[in-house]
Amino acid sequence: VTFSELHLQPLAAEHLEAAAALDALCLGGLWSLDGYQRELDSPNSDLLSLRFNRATASPLIGLGCFWAILEEAHITLLAIHPDYQRQGLGQLLLLALLQRAAARGLERSTLEVRDRNQPALNLYAKFGFQVAGRRRGYYQATSEDALILWRSGLQQPSFARELTAWHGEIERRLGDRGWRCLALTQSPAKG
Ligand SMILES: CC(C)(COP(=O)(O)OP(=O)(O)OC[C@H]1O[C@@H](n2cnc3c(N)ncnc32)[C@H](O)[C@@H]1OP(=O)(O)O)[C@@H](O)C(=O)NCCC(=O)NCCS
Repeated sequence: VTFSELHLQPLAAEHLEAAAALDALCLGGLWSLDGYQRELDSPNSDLLSLRFNRATASPLIGLGCFWAILEEAHITLLAIHPDYQRQGLGQLLLLALLQRAAARGLERSTLEVRDRNQPALNLYAKFGFQVAGRRRGYYQATSEDALILWRSGLQQPSFARELTAWHGEIERRLGDRGWRCLALTQSPAKG
């Protein structure tokens, strides 16, 4: 069997423009080029990218980021290129973010998400995130509400077991598509 390799690694400086382009496509331009550069420079930011070893229309197919603030991992973005959604890659990125958050010794993870973003809500629920609150009209352009999600217990032994189980499930799903992920656990954390 010939596998296509998926590279999951900290965003490289050479992919800054691709990151801003993917952001514009998936998130409507959350961060600019300068914004991505700031993330690369920040020791508290863990910014991961996903790409194939073969040529694709977009050099990057996924981005995920969290900020380490006190003992919390604030997930600031998670995006998969529309052509590659619904194939398990969002789960792969979220798993990698949580693994790195746990490896940094962080206790909890939190994020904000539009209350009508059902794909994201389903994804986070699968990983044990729970709704802890609502910010009304948080997204000014559309006056949509934000939901605040929390996931605690990142340092508990049961969480390490869950990570291992998710890892196995995700690897099987990628393998079924002929994909193999490199560097899921190999890239050292910053900071
Ligand atoms: C949210 C997002 C990252 C999910 O990525 P993805 O690669 O499509 O997700 P996966 O294939 O790993 O799906 C994981 C789970 O999420 C849920 N999910 C994903 N897409 C869904 C959809 N269209 N409808 C309902 N549930 C969905 C499902 O529970 C799914 O598990 P399943 O396939 O076993 O049913 C992607 O939709 C995206 O980039 N959206 C735009 C940006 C965004 O809204 N980001 C989140 C806010 S920061």
